Amino acid sequence: MNLSLEGRNAIVCGSSQGIGFAIAEELAIMGANCILLARNEENLKTAVAQLDISIRQSHSYHAIDFNDVEAVRTLSKQLTSQQTIHVLINNSGGPKAGPIVDAKEEEFLQAFSQHVIVNHVLTNAVIDGMKKEGYGRIINIISTSVKTPLKNLGVSNTIRWSVAAWAKTLANELGQFGITVNNVLPGSTATERNTSLIEANAKRQNVSTEEIKKTMIDAIPAKRVGEPEEIAAVAAFLATPAASYVNGVSIPVDGGRTPSI
Ligand SMILES: NC(=O)c1ccc[n+]([C@@H]2O[C@H](COP(=O)([O-])OP(=O)(O)OC[C@H]3O[C@@H](n4cnc5c(N)ncnc54)[C@H](OP(=O)(O)O)[C@@H]3O)[C@@H](O)[C@H]2O)c1
Repeated sequence: MNLSLEGRNAIVCGSSQGIGFAIAEELAIMGANCILLARNEENLKTAVAQLDISIRQSHSYHAIDFNDVEAVRTLSKQLTSQQTIHVLINNSGGPKAGPIVDAKEEEFLQAFSQHVIVNHVLTNAVIDGMKKEGYGRIINIISTSVKTPLKNLGVSNTIRWSVAAWAKTLANELGQFGITVNNVLPGSTATERNTSLIEANAKRQNVSTEEIKKTMIDAIPAKRVGEPEEIAAVAAFLATPAASYVNGVSIPVDGGRTPSI
C-alpha cells in the first residue's frame, strides 16, 4: 500500500490548531510539504515549527482570514503560480452554535461564504495543476451533521449540507482526471471548537459543563470524545496514492455516534 506523500505539496486550511493542525502533522510525517493557512500568525509560526522535516520537507504558512474572499483568491493564485498543489484540505472554524430559529440571515450568508465559496475559490486555483499531474486530493473537513442534523447547530447543519453537495458534484466532474474529492465528518473531538460548543450549550441550558460533557459522551458508543489525530489519520489516508479509488464519499469519524448506517 503506497502511503507516501514525498514530493507532494499540500495546502492545509485552518491548521494553526485543532483538527487542521493534526492533519498537517500527519501529512508532513508522510512526506508532504505543507502550506498552513489560518488567521493567527503567532499560532501558525508555532505550528509550522512542529512539523516533521526528517526527509527535508519544506513547510510554510500564510496568515489569512477566510471571511475575505478576495484575499483568498489572491493568495491561492500566488501559491499555485509557485508550485503544483497535490492535496487541498478545506477546513476552518465552525459556524456559531444555536437553534436555527434564532439564526440571523447574515449568519447563513457569512457561513456560506466561509465554507462553500472559500472552498470553491481554493479548489478552482488548484485543479489545473492537479489535472496536469493526474493526481489531486481535495478533502473537506465537515461534520457528522451531513448525515443527521445536530441539535443547536442550526446554521452549521444548513451549511454543512451545502459543502457536501458541492463536494459530491465536484467529485463527479473531477474523478476522470485522477482527482478525488472526499469529506471527513468529525464527531465530538477534543479541540477548542468542542470546548466552546460545550460552554455555549451549558449556558443555553443553564446546566454545568460537566453535565453537557456527560450527555455528549453517553451518546458515543466509544464512550469518549475523539482526538484530533484520529480525525487526521483518515484525512491523511485519503490524501495518499493508496486512496485512489475512494471518491465522492463522506466518512464519519465519530466513535460510532452517527445513528444511520
Ligand atoms: N471539534 C469538534 O468536535 C468538531 C466536530 C464536528 C465538526 N468540527 C468541524 O471541524 C472543523 C475544524 O474544527 P476544530 O475543532 O479543529 O476547530 P478549531 O480548534 O476551532 O480550529 C479551527 C481552525 O480554523 C482556523 N480558522 C477559524 N476561522 C478562520 C477564518 N475565518 N479564516 C481562516 N482560518 C480560520 C483557526 O485558526 P485562527 O483562529 O488562527 O484563524 C484554527 O486553525 C470546523 O469546521 C468544526 O466545526 C469539529
